[in-house]
Amino acid sequence: MAVRMVSLIGIALLTLSLTIAEEDLPCRTRDLEIEGRSIVCVCDANYCDTITREEPSSGNYVVYTSSDSGKRFEKSFGEIQNVVNYAESLDIDREQTPKEMLEESDFDEGTNSTIWNSVRLRLFTNTRYQTIEGFGGSVTDAAGINWRKLSDATQTQLINTYFGPKGLEYNFIRVPIAGADFSTHPYTYNEMPWNDGALSNFSLSEEDLFLKLPMIKRSLHAAKHEVKIIASTWSPPIWMKTNERITGFGQVKREFYQAYADYHLRFLEEYAKVNVKIWAITTTNEPINGIVPIAPFNSLGWMPSQLARWIVDNLGPTIRNSPFNDTLILAVDDQRYLLHFYVIGMEREDPKAFDYIDGIAIHYYGNFAPAQLLTDIQNRHPKKILLSTEACEGAMPWDAMRVEIGAWRRARNYITSILQDLNNFVVGWIDWNLCLSETGGPNWANNFVDAPILVFPEKDEFIKNPMFYAMGHFSKFVPRGSIRILASRRSIMTIENIAFLTPAGNIVVILHNRNNRDMNIRLDIGTTRFIQLVLEAHSIKTIEINQN
Ligand SMILES: *[C@@H]1O[C@H](CO)[C@@H](O)[C@H](O)[C@H]1NC(C)=O
Ligand SMILES: *[C@@H]1O[C@H](CO)[C@@H](O)[C@H](O)[C@H]1NC(C)=O
Ligand SMILES: *[C@@H]1O[C@H](CO)[C@@H](O)[C@H](O)[C@H]1NC(C)=O
Repeated sequence: MAVRMVSLIGIALLTLSLTIAEEDLPCRTRDLEIEGRSIVCVCDANYCDTITREEPSSGNYVVYTSSDSGKRFEKSFGEIQNVVNYAESLDIDREQTPKEMLEESDFDEGTNSTIWNSVRLRLFTNTRYQTIEGFGGSVTDAAGINWRKLSDATQTQLINTYFGPKGLEYNFIRVPIAGADFSTHPYTYNEMPWNDGALSNFSLSEEDLFLKLPMIKRSLHAAKHEVKIIASTWSPPIWMKTNERITGFGQVKREFYQAYADYHLRFLEEYAKVNVKIWAITTTNEPINGIVPIAPFNSLGWMPSQLARWIVDNLGPTIRNSPFNDTLILAVDDQRYLLHFYVIGMEREDPKAFDYIDGIAIHYYGNFAPAQLLTDIQNRHPKKILLSTEACEGAMPWDAMRVEIGAWRRARNYITSILQDLNNFVVGWIDWNLCLSETGGPNWANNFVDAPILVFPEKDEFIKNPMFYAMGHFSKFVPRGSIRILASRRSIMTIENIAFLTPAGNIVVILHNRNNRDMNIRLDIGTTRFIQLVLEAHSIKTIEINQN
């Protein structure tokens, strides 16, 4: 009896402590009172909203909602329902005709639901696609500069809100090798002496030592899980380049192909010396910028044939025969509409290039080409991963504003793009600058853009834009190792959606409503159980379901 009392008290205490531990700090909202904008969440040394992932118990689910109307990771809970009508439970695994969809759609008679505001999806946990690597953001010089302007306590808040267990749990970082446009000046490693093919004077920059490495180390420290790092060169030392300039039309001089491969190896060595392991390198950021020189910043051009030659003759052997032989090599690192140009061009020059590369990196800007292109590339090279390595809003010439504080529209663009990519075999999605100033900089080439976090040093605070929560609806709930599963539509109406099976065996569904009206959603789990919920106008929901 006494033992039982003790254990009961134990359970009571445990429940109590769990309840306390899972109490999240809500978004401290600031309404900008600008027509058409959503709210932002404000953080400082003493306060920052947190998000804890709740473990759904058997037969239950947890829903997280963010919306234009101001919700940020709002939690709700539910129980999976059983189908009562036997006829409804009949298994229909084949594709349905529109007529059948019409007949099935009026699933909720006697309510306000019609075929025009109802979406029905069926989740197939046994139809599996790619395994997810993760989500993250980039430690640029600009991110480091803004971050370092905050007090130490606020710096910790910013790192925790991205990487910590009560934050977005990011597990990827991308870092430029030397300078990019998001630096105060253009620079490379080993600029002098001229024509130093042996790289005898290679050394990291002040920016590495005082901005990027400290920010990376604090992020790795805050994260509960492994954070993988991807590094990319924008431009090598200008003596390696045909135009001997940091920007414009320029490629690597043939005699420096090996030096440019060694440049990457030296970077891996220098970062390893300070205990930062690089998981992957890309084969140069946006190689088109040194071929079609429109971008006014650090660049290096590769034609597909040149890129294949360099990978086969120099970069591939250099990395594979080094102590860093397990470093992944990701090719292209450029826009979706250039994928075929580079992939097919490299195949033509030398298919051996694909023996050295582990995947293809893709950027976000001007996604004119259909996302189906990604699936085509995956089918061509089924063993290679596709990874999205850079994205930001406000970068295009037609964007009226570089920074648009509180714009839900920008979160919506992120969500749509992530869903398109992941539904076409992309394994992860990495955002650009982790934080920027209120004008979207610094950027030496005046290429200012937006970011999920904007820093206000004079107030020692930062604000979180809707894009921050867009990223979190994925990064927080789709852990590395999750596998995308089939979510097949069984209604006339459609919304943007995706589904995963997590390593713990839960189903995670993400639903995005771009419409001006609420939608009634029904998720069929197997043949006899379902979940029904309302997806409000301009909102995103992540639903974690314990189906067991
Ligand atoms: C080596 O690089 C540093 C800058 O990092 C420069 O000041 C120095 O002059 C270079 N040494 C030689 C021999 O060029
Ligand atoms: C990779 O490098 C490590 C460390 O130098 C070495 O032990 C290992 O055998 C290498 N692996 C391959 C496949 O070459
Ligand atoms: C249907 O009605 C319910 C209850 O009145 C409401 O909560 C829900 O938002 C409505 N659904 C739609 C799609 O309008």
